[in-house]
Amino acid sequence: MEIVVSGIRSTGNLHLGNYLGAMKNFVKMQETHSCYFFIADLHSLTTHPTPGDLHGNVKNVLIEYLAAGIDPEKATIYVQSDVPEVTELYLYLNMISYLGELERCTSFKEKVRKQPENVNAGLLTYPTLMAADILIHHATKVPVGKDQEQHLEMTRNFANRFNFLYKTDYFKEPFAFNFGTELVKVPGLDGGGKMGKSEGEGNAVFLRDEPELIRKKVMRAVSDSGPTVPNQEKPEAIANLFTLLQLVSAPETYDHFNEAYNACRIRYGDMKKQLAEDMITFTAPFREKIRELSADEAYIRQVAEEGAMKASESARKTLAEVREIIGIKPF
Ligand code: TYM
Repeated sequence: MEIVVSGIRSTGNLHLGNYLGAMKNFVKMQETHSCYFFIADLHSLTTHPTPGDLHGNVKNVLIEYLAAGIDPEKATIYVQSDVPEVTELYLYLNMISYLGELERCTSFKEKVRKQPENVNAGLLTYPTLMAADILIHHATKVPVGKDQEQHLEMTRNFANRFNFLYKTDYFKEPFAFNFGTELVKVPGLDGGGKMGKSEGEGNAVFLRDEPELIRKKVMRAVSDSGPTVPNQEKPEAIANLFTLLQLVSAPETYDHFNEAYNACRIRYGDMKKQLAEDMITFTAPFREKIRELSADEAYIRQVAEEGAMKASESARKTLAEVREIIGIKPF
């Protein structure tokens, strides 16, 4: 069976972007692939969370994985820091990743711009830790959103470089995966860019948001005064609202508002109301499941423990082989 790995950082609650860009595929892939889905708590250390926030977020993401339908009987669910072999492989990969390529990485450049006061080495080597996550289980498919494409390209570079340096074909090339034709980018509500946990208040709709909050966020979404010429191209903020409609609403709803837009008789208030209601319906099953699972501490702990055991088994085997290839072995 083909091997699949993916993870989500424990930096807050999960939003529609995480679900539609990544987790929706996790749920499907667990039926036909050998899957490892983890919570990337080590990656989230780059922004220095408090110990309490970090631990709480790991638990929340675990609950949200389960609420979304990831089944511990079908997939291995674990916390990244429970498998220290990953960090050892990260160290080896850091020896073959170069400053220039790490500095050129788009996500690094973006972080330098957004948090100039905290440009740490963990941010720079984020892609090598991610490569370690993937290569430790020999995954070939990695279900992720569009923003991760470059990290996958870097993972392939590291894998190929390792193979070349040690004259082996040990690591396989992993590729970003989506069941659709293209990787997904879910827009946010703030008029530009993607939906993100750290993009600012009101930009993201979280799976656990209560209906009233969703209504409030969507009604405040950036729009404009409306088209003045029939069939005119949609400005980014409006195109984003239509993309969201496409993702959570019925096709007829999309067509209805699209026709109204093209005929210059659209009322954004009506469109936002409909979008909010469709988002509420879409997220309802998650909210309910999250509430149920949050009360079951023992089950959550059991899932994490069993997942750590299964993931460690695969990771230990890889690491023993990597050490052997590199020449780190007993006399
Ligand atoms: P994170 O937490 O930023 O995102 C987790 C997943 O959600 C996707 N995603 C989106 N997809 C579409 N539209 C959006 N607006 C949107 N926002 C987030 C991301 O593409 C991602 O798939 N670096 C990873 C975590 C990670 C990882 C790995 C993933 C660490 N190691 C190994 C795969 C394999 C990340 O961005 O997490």
